[in-house]
Amino acid sequence: MLDFSPNVCGIQFKNPILLASGTASFGLELSRIYDVSKLGGIVLKTITLEERQGNELPRIFEFPYGMLNSIGLANPGLRKFKDEILPQVLKLGTNIIVSVAGKSVEEFREIVEEVSGIDGVSAIELNLSCPNVEKGGVTFDSKVENVREVVKATKKVSAKPIWVKLSPNTPSIVENAITAQNEGADAISAINTILGMKIDIKTGKPVFKNIFAGYSGPAIKPIALRYVYEICQNVRIPVIGIGGISSFEDVLEFLYAGAKLVQIGTYNFIDPLAPIRIIDEMDKFRKTS
Ligand code: FUM
Repeated sequence: MLDFSPNVCGIQFKNPILLASGTASFGLELSRIYDVSKLGGIVLKTITLEERQGNELPRIFEFPYGMLNSIGLANPGLRKFKDEILPQVLKLGTNIIVSVAGKSVEEFREIVEEVSGIDGVSAIELNLSCPNVEKGGVTFDSKVENVREVVKATKKVSAKPIWVKLSPNTPSIVENAITAQNEGADAISAINTILGMKIDIKTGKPVFKNIFAGYSGPAIKPIALRYVYEICQNVRIPVIGIGGISSFEDVLEFLYAGAKLVQIGTYNFIDPLAPIRIIDEMDKFRKTS
């Protein structure tokens, strides 16, 4: 039986549809075009301890069925986020999940400890999987020891559920998920973007300064679904499915694969109203089935 109003990590979701980190900023702009309180939740743009300007332009390249991004975790930094942005976000009437990143286990520990103390935040998502900050697209979770250490350290200081967002560009996303679970992670979010590149045929050079960038969008959905299925077969904690979701049928596939929640990402750029359309279709489906 599929659960369309799931309770995940002790948090009640009015539906399983969340917006993925990095595709909805902090939800404030979207709240001017639709009622974001209808969403199950919003995972905010990843925050770091210090402000980050992000990578050199260009940062995005579009393809017919996907998009490469090399944003570089541009964000206002923890202090400004906490004092000026989050108070507005917490009035949006939906579950707010704060995504965080650090360059070291200690930085992750510090930021999680701060965010954990904020009333109204539902959960914290550790972004261990951004491919756009280290050379060669290396992600924090490229070593299983990093997953072990960061989950262990952040669980010690967090009163909130810890979700761990994993990369498919690692030796084994399944091993990373099992390791995160064994260290006390409350849920796994999968997948982050797939490493890709683009070459400008006029210059013969890579388009992006970092050479590689993260590929996302409808083109990656079958790959994401396979990873989500494999992770669900190997862990007991809830899995949150991400990757190329654009329709209610896609959502059903991820739920049948075992995900408890899903996050809509790149499709927000193609059709910002898609999450609401999907929720409406879900409501009709629930009434008629
Ligand atoms: O570069 C970025 O800001 C993207 C982050 C991610 O994929 O986690």
